[in-house]
Amino acid sequence: MDKQQDEYFEMRLEYMKDRMCLYRPFLRPAAAEAMNAAVFGKNFAGSTDPSALSLLVMFCAITQPIRMLELGTFHGFSTMTIAEILATNKRPGTLVTVEPMQEYQECAKELVFQAGLTSTVQFVRGFSTDEAVLSVVEEWAPYDIIYIDSSHQFAQTLEELDLYLIARPLIRPGGLVFLHDITLELENDPGVGPAVDEWIRRHPEYHYLPLSTKGIWPQEAGFGIIQTPV
Ligand SMILES: C[S@@+](CC[C@H](N)C(=O)[O-])C[C@H]1O[C@@H](n2cnc3c(N)ncnc32)[C@H](O)[C@@H]1O
Repeated sequence: MDKQQDEYFEMRLEYMKDRMCLYRPFLRPAAAEAMNAAVFGKNFAGSTDPSALSLLVMFCAITQPIRMLELGTFHGFSTMTIAEILATNKRPGTLVTVEPMQEYQECAKELVFQAGLTSTVQFVRGFSTDEAVLSVVEEWAPYDIIYIDSSHQFAQTLEELDLYLIARPLIRPGGLVFLHDITLELENDPGVGPAVDEWIRRHPEYHYLPLSTKGIWPQEAGFGIIQTPV
């Protein structure tokens, strides 16, 4: 990889450090190898920042979820990392991941295959708010953890929270919802953070912990955790 032409070079190096990616020491060889290739591959930009992903998989190791749902697979970086932790947990779990773009989903499937995690991940194609998608993901519900890293749009995020937490609901009581990019600034949309703030104002019985993830990405992403009432 040519350092001069690669605007992500320093970030890629950070991803290789155990102190930044707290999960690295726990990866088995196949997952570690797949991750290294992904970090230095062309599809690396846009994946969950290492601080947020470290925190998320730490919760996966501590709470040992049996069923987990991800909205926004992209090229599968977070999918593969989460799946590796779920597969190696004392109480192994499975991950359902939703992505509308076929090209991204194929890429993610390949990464998950390389890591030897195909049996841990169920891929679903479509938008998180599609009725067809909701019907499919409902088959594996209730989820212990839902990770939302999808459209990043204000209205869409509100709709996801309404659908997955209230209307169906697809999360179990006491389950955790993680949201990436709560401080990401978008040009034409208030984004995820204001949507969650608004949603929590409407549902004060849900606990919300917004976190800053100042770190290696050019723009701070931010990470939010919602705990559903028991
Ligand atoms: C930031 S990327 C996800 C990154 C991924 N979680 C990772 O860390 O590697 C956002 C993804 O969400 C997808 N997306 C956009 N709207 C969506 C929706 N309504 N439901 C599910 N996925 C959506 C996009 O196509 C894109 O692949």
